[in-house]
Amino acid sequence: MSPVVILVGPPGSGKSTIAALLAERLGVKHRDTDTDIEAGAGQPISDIFVDHGEAHFRALERAAIVAALEDDEVLSLGGGAILDPATRADLAGHNVVFLDVSLGEAAKRVGLGVARPLLLGNVRTQLRNLMEARRPLYVEVAKLTVQTDDRTPDQIADEILEHL
Ligand code: S3P
Repeated sequence: MSPVVILVGPPGSGKSTIAALLAERLGVKHRDTDTDIEAGAGQPISDIFVDHGEAHFRALERAAIVAALEDDEVLSLGGGAILDPATRADLAGHNVVFLDVSLGEAAKRVGLGVARPLLLGNVRTQLRNLMEARRPLYVEVAKLTVQTDDRTPDQIADEILEHL
């Protein structure tokens, strides 16, 4: 057993939304490693970062990915999952889809634009740095890249299903 499709991409690329839609259309379950980590740790990811640090979170994430790769599902990974070379190696041979998104659209979707204007500069800068640094890694693991700006979840899901 292995995932039918695995979605990667930065925060705000729509991984969870599209994965849930694909799972519904395909009649399989949706598994999300962030959700698995939170369930296993009994606390939200933001608390895991504060209480135990990013390295601990990445170790939990790695274990969650190894477990999820044994399962039959639509799988969405956290935005930083592809930072681990072992995970990138494990993703080879799987149906990995990179949900591409522009900085402006990602910032809008993570909800930090209009609601918190004072944060806007910092958040956009952080998001831009993260997206620029990770883009080659998303491209490296992906069999298919799908542009998500200006497209509905249904249109994005249709394009992925055409390529499965
Ligand atoms: C992270 C993205 C988050 C979550 C964690 C770290 C990242 O997932 O895994 O906060 O490093 O980009 P989303 O991509 O679903 O926001």
